[in-house]
Amino acid sequence: MSSTTSVHGMWSSRLAFILAATGSAVGLGNIWRFPYTAGEYGGGAFVLVYLICVAGIGIPIMMAEIMLGRRGRQSPINTMKSLAREEGSSPFWQLLGWMGIVSGFLILSFYSVIAGWTLAYVFRAAGGLFTGAEAQMARAMFEALVSDPERLLAWHTIFMIMTGLVVARGVASGLERAVRWLMPALFLLLVVMVFYAAQAGDFTGGFSYMFSPDFARLGSRFGEAVLSAMGQAFFSLSLGMGAIMIYGSYLNSRASIGQNAIIIASMDTLVALLAGLAIFPIVLANGLEAGAGPGLIFQTLPIAFGQMPFGGLFGTVFFVLLVFAAWTSAISLLEPMTAWLVENRGFSRPRAAALGAIAVWLLGIACLLSLNLWSNVTVLGKGFLDLFDYVTANILLPLGGVCIAIFAGWIMRRVSSVDELALGERSFGYRTWLALVRFVAPACVILVFLNAIGLI
Ligand code: TRP
Repeated sequence: MSSTTSVHGMWSSRLAFILAATGSAVGLGNIWRFPYTAGEYGGGAFVLVYLICVAGIGIPIMMAEIMLGRRGRQSPINTMKSLAREEGSSPFWQLLGWMGIVSGFLILSFYSVIAGWTLAYVFRAAGGLFTGAEAQMARAMFEALVSDPERLLAWHTIFMIMTGLVVARGVASGLERAVRWLMPALFLLLVVMVFYAAQAGDFTGGFSYMFSPDFARLGSRFGEAVLSAMGQAFFSLSLGMGAIMIYGSYLNSRASIGQNAIIIASMDTLVALLAGLAIFPIVLANGLEAGAGPGLIFQTLPIAFGQMPFGGLFGTVFFVLLVFAAWTSAISLLEPMTAWLVENRGFSRPRAAALGAIAVWLLGIACLLSLNLWSNVTVLGKGFLDLFDYVTANILLPLGGVCIAIFAGWIMRRVSSVDELALGERSFGYRTWLALVRFVAPACVILVFLNAIGLI
């Protein structure tokens, strides 16, 4: 018998869930990671594969995650344990929850460092440092930041404290209010920036860079690009590690899961595309390198803010909103491990959140040092920050997502999923969903993996 509430609290309404889940999905992944990854793979072809992955793999897996969370009503580890028992399957399914904890741990460690860059840029914008910026200067400003471990540590520490504090209080309380005004504000500001880019940058160039796919240009990097686009879809939608699962566990039993997943994924995708449309026209007009890597937006946006009217003000507001967006995402990364510590170790919520945050903070130090003092320490040719980013987005999240899809599609009895999704066993919606989680999502992920390791 599944319970109808979670001990960790419940969303006050369906809207509260949509806001919180959108808050988790929209973050640095959309505005920092999407443009730079798209830029690394030359734009159009990457964007097209990304959109296909969001629609064909992301939305059905998001539905599955929400569904499992809502049925289990606990941290991902215990949810998987009790659902596996309920469906008469193996207790090994709880390993999926453990894998999610590991992914969340690794992601948050570097996510917090990047959020720290964003915090630092709030003050650069507010201090008028962008005025008259051109490519050379923006680049020097970025490099001065990432080569200074003490500064990075200070910002990383502040961001982890912010995240730990909210999680310690319980996510159901403050999140809803914060996201309610944050999302519309971020959206509006992005639209303003797209308008600016349209007028001052090379908009047609930027637009066709993003939307005219040229697969031939990828050449031998085709498989790698597809893997990264798929990884980006998982990362941006917060899938495959239990964040959406645990948010689903605070959702009441009547809300329509399919509709919610489509709304959340659409908003997430819209924000990513707007970010791209704000950035690439500037990149092209200023002769910058689209494949500049993780520093792309930090080296591009200051140029735009430095030249536009009221750029200091817009820049400050933009980076403040980006900090908030990163914050609401980071909270969802810390929540699963906190809930587990509360359930299984009997910790109070503040103590559990503090423990999780401190552990992540320590690992984050390795990430920030990999940008400077430890730049020659590499594993598989990557420093820690790049390594954690690559391994989580491209391997752990898709793997977690596929296991979720397999559990929802093959292990769970149809009566259970029909009941949760409330779609009717013969309806088009249910049958499409079932085909996607049973066959399409697992097959796509496995093929992309096999291709990436050179087996096909
Ligand atoms: N989706 C967030 C972003 O785009 C990051 C994030 C939050 C995340 N929770 C997650 C990524 C869980 C993977 C899994 O910034």
